[in-house]
Amino acid sequence: MTDDIGQKALRSAGVEVWWARVGAAQDAFVRDLDPVERERLAAYLRDEDRARFLLGVTITRRVLGARFSLLPARIRLDRTCSECGKPHGKVRADGVELSVTHSGEFVGVAFSDQPVGLDVEKVDPGVDVDGVARIALSAEEARELERYDGIAKAQAFTTYWTRKEAVLKATGQGLRGELRAPAPAGIQVQELEVGADHRAALAVVSAEPPVVRVQDATLLLS
Ligand SMILES: CC(C)(COP(=O)(O)OP(=O)(O)OC[C@H]1O[C@@H](n2cnc3c(N)ncnc32)[C@H](O)[C@@H]1OP(=O)(O)O)[C@@H](O)C(=O)NCCC(=O)NCCS
Ligand SMILES: [Zn+2]
Repeated sequence: MTDDIGQKALRSAGVEVWWARVGAAQDAFVRDLDPVERERLAAYLRDEDRARFLLGVTITRRVLGARFSLLPARIRLDRTCSECGKPHGKVRADGVELSVTHSGEFVGVAFSDQPVGLDVEKVDPGVDVDGVARIALSAEEARELERYDGIAKAQAFTTYWTRKEAVLKATGQGLRGELRAPAPAGIQVQELEVGADHRAALAVVSAEPPVVRVQDATLLLS
C-alpha cells in the first residue's frame, strides 16, 4: 500500500496554480520588479494590460520568495525569448517550472517540478469559430463543435483552444507549435474551472494525472 502511494508520487507531477482577478493590481507592486520588467510594464498602452502583467510578475515573485525564503525582488527571472532574445519569452526561474497566463478578468501562474503550461482565455462571443477551427482544430474536434451554436459554440471552442495553448506553453513552443495535433503522450491536460465567461487549461509533463492545488492569490497580494 505504502509502496503504491510512493510509486504514484514519483509518476504524478505536483502543480500549484494561483489565480488573481485583474482588479487586485496595486501600484506598490512595481517596487519588486526588475529593470526589464519595469520597461515591459511601461510599454503597455492599456491599464488592464499593465495590471495583468504586473499581477503575473507579482504572484510569481511572491510565491517563489516564500518558497525559497528570499525577498520577492531578489528572485531572478529570465524572460529571454528563445526565438529572438528579447525579454518577452516564457518566464524561467532556477529550481522550478513556471507558466504565466492572463486574459479578461484573470491572471494565473502555475508552479511545478515538471514543465507546465497554463492558459486562460476570456470567451469571445464574436469569435469566428468555423474560420479559426480550420487552422486550429483537428477534424474530429471541428465535427464535435458542429453540435453547438452561439455562445455554447464559442465556449466549447475556447475550451479546445486553451487546452492546446496550455500544451504549447508547457513545451515552450507557443503558437509556433502545431495546433491541430492531439496532445503528445506524456503530457497531461485538464480543464480548470474559472466560471462561464472564461476557459482555462493546465498541461504538465507527467506520466500520471498531476496532483493540482488551486490557490486564490487574494491574501498573497494583500
Ligand atoms: C506564449 C503564447 C502562447 C501566449 O499566448 P496568449 O494567450 O496571448 O497569452 P497568455 O497570457 O496566455 O500568456 C502570456 C505569457 O506566456 C509566457 N510565454 C511567452 N512566450 C512563451 C512561450 N513560447 N512558451 C510558453 N510561455 C510563453 C509569458 O510568461 C507571458 O506572460 P508575461 O509576458 O506576462 O510573463 C503566445 O504569445 C505565443 O505563442 N508566443 C510565442 C510566439 C513566438 O514564438 N514568438 C516569437 C516572437 S520573436
Ligand atoms: Zn521573441
